[in-house]
Order: sequence, then structure tokens, then C-alpha cells
Amino acid sequence: MNLTASKKVQKLTASIFQEVAVLKRKALNRGLDVIDLSVGSPDLPPPAFVVEELVKYASDTANYGYTLKGIPEFHEAVSFFYKQRYAADIDSEHEVLQLMGSQDGLAHLATAIINPGDYVLVPDPGYPIYEASVTIAGGVLFPLPLLAENNFLPVLDDIPLPILEKTKMMILSYPGNPVPVLADSSFFEEVVHFAKRHNILVVHDFAYSELIFDNNPQISFMSVPGAKEVGIEFNSLSKTFNLAGCRIGYAVGNEQALNILGMFKSQIDYGVFYPIQKAATAALTSDYTLLQEQVKEYEFRRDTLMAGLEKSGWKLSKSPATMFLWAKIPAGWKSRQFAFELINNTGVAVIPGDAFGKQGEGYVRIALVQPAERLSEAAERIHKFLAKPK
Ligand SMILES: Cc1ncc(COP(=O)(O)O)c(C=O)c1O
Repeated sequence: MNLTASKKVQKLTASIFQEVAVLKRKALNRGLDVIDLSVGSPDLPPPAFVVEELVKYASDTANYGYTLKGIPEFHEAVSFFYKQRYAADIDSEHEVLQLMGSQDGLAHLATAIINPGDYVLVPDPGYPIYEASVTIAGGVLFPLPLLAENNFLPVLDDIPLPILEKTKMMILSYPGNPVPVLADSSFFEEVVHFAKRHNILVVHDFAYSELIFDNNPQISFMSVPGAKEVGIEFNSLSKTFNLAGCRIGYAVGNEQALNILGMFKSQIDYGVFYPIQKAATAALTSDYTLLQEQVKEYEFRRDTLMAGLEKSGWKLSKSPATMFLWAKIPAGWKSRQFAFELINNTGVAVIPGDAFGKQGEGYVRIALVQPAERLSEAAERIHKFLAKPK
């Protein structure tokens, strides 16, 4: 058989994670002890009471049918969580859509909303599915450069009017992946105003809403006046409660946008496993003390790695949020060359920044998904690597 991928799929680039996985395997085969700081999959366990809930409902064979959509308790739990954590009012019946992870929603939204030729504003660098989803939908990407000199916020006034006239949607993420910075309320207010003026749907990815450090405020786009008129926010239990493999997330906000996405999804899947929905409901309505402990753990990891790397003269910007460091690489290196030589020589795996967009060149993304001792060990190895002549 001679089979080729569709033209749309051919336009997608191979995932950098696969490329790095090959290098990790080769390093392992050469006997290197690999320290994997490449994929943002949490190494911490979910809370015990959440696992207990999952086991309890999974033991009942009555719970193995299709669920088709989110159960009312889950919707109410999301609304409760948003009120408690972000002081945002979400109507549980009309303003919540359950997803199989936020990736599910991010991947399908553009196809549900965008017609071929419509423009979508996407952050550069940005989480890869933003760009891929628009490519699949046949939309036109307009990158919003996130530059250090603008605190990694897009300059909305720089977008030409003829582009805005053709723009249907914009994607933002604060704190984001790979750029872990925060936006303040005034930026979000500007976004609401801008979106209303140009009739653009705002899509805010808030997957790291509970990994915000140093007592910085946790600002949901949904807490900003007028946000629900123009936008939706994706969120997830993957990083907040370490349930990444369970595939459960949700979108909140604009009812019309959620209805369109929900209608499209009803053609694609038959809902999240009931025991997972029950476990997620328990997590979202818990007392949240575990979230504070988790933040402390990530702060400690971040500070340990930064202190270790500073000894080698590599000074990184302190991440105010997420499980990532967005690290400007030492002068004289390209991102891919740095990341690939690092893994080949030391077994420390990171992701080259250009994999997230043109503006990511000159950076690598380091995931804090190993205990502090391993991060110290990684810093030691990087120190030796940088001390060697190139
Ligand atoms: C910024 C961002 N958004 C969304 C996701 C998708 O997460 P999930 O589908 O597990 O909710 C990820 C996963 O790493 C992410 O980093």
C-alpha cells in the first residue's frame, strides 16, 4: 500500500519530544544516567484521597458505561473551585464544558470556530498545539512575539488593522508554557477591550493556574469584568492535582463558544470515565492545603537548580510560575545545538526553545519534574559541560 498523510497533516511538524526521546534512548544505550527535564509530566503523586475516590468508583462495574458529558457534580465543583481560588463567577450549568484534558479542547476549538482563511493570533513562543490546531483548521497564523523587553506580553497596538479585520480568535496563556510569566489584571482588561472592539474570541490557557510562586496573585482571565462576553479559559487537573494521565480538564466562560465546542466534541468522544469524573470532583472541592505544599516543592526545586547553575556562571531568570524555567542560553550557542549536545554529553535532557516558535531561539525550556537532588546533579553536570571548550 502506498499511503500518504493528508495535506493538512503533512503541514504539521514532527514533535520535538519524539526527537529528544530518540536522543535520550541513545544516551541510555551508551550507559549515561539520563536526567529527564524535557517533558512537563508531573512526577509528584495525586492526593491520596483523590486516588481513593477513583479506586472506590472504579471497583463498581456499574460505572463502566459511556458518560457522554460532564456530570452535574463536576460542573458544580469547577464553579466552586473558580469562586474559591480566583473569585470568578462561573455558572455551572451553562459556563462549564468538561474535556479529556485541556489539550482536547485546545486541539478541537479552532476546527469548531475557524473557517479556512480566518486569522488566529498565537503567542510566539507558544505551546505547540496552538499553532497545530489552527493549521488543522485551515486558519492563518499571525504570531504575537513575546519578547523579554515587553515582559513577554504581546503589544496589541502593533497588530495591523487589516489583519485584525480578518482575525476571529486569539490565544494567550499567563502563566504559559514555555514562557512562565504572569499577566496582571490591567493587561487582561486591555485584552477584553481589544477583543470587544475587533470582535475576536479570546482563548486563555490557564493550565498552570495553581503553580504560581512567591505569593504572586493567581489571576484568572475569568475574574476580569467583561471576559465572559469575549472569551473562554481552559484549565486542567493534570498539573494542579497531578492527574495528567487521567485526561480530565475543562473550559469555562463564554456560553456560545462552549456550546459550539461541545457540539463538535459530541461527534468525537463519549465522555470521561465516571470514576475519573468523581475523583476530579473530590479534588476540586477539597481544602486545597496540598496545593500550597506543592507550590513550596516547585519553588524549592526552582531555587535549587538556579543556585546550582549560577555557580557555572549561567544566570537564569526566576520563574514566577509553572514547572518550567525559560532559560536564555549562554552566548555562542543555538538552541538545538545546546540542547542536543547537552543530552549527548551529560544525559541531561531539556527542550530547545525554537521548538515553540521563532522567538524561542536562544532559549531552552527546563522542566522541574525531578526531585531537588537530581536537579543539583543536573546543575553539576551542566557546570562541567559549560566549562569544557566547545
Ligand atoms: C500550556 C499547556 N496547556 C495545556 C496543556 C495540556 O494539558 P492537559 O491536556 O493534560 O490538560 C499543557 C500540557 O503540558 C500545557 O503545558
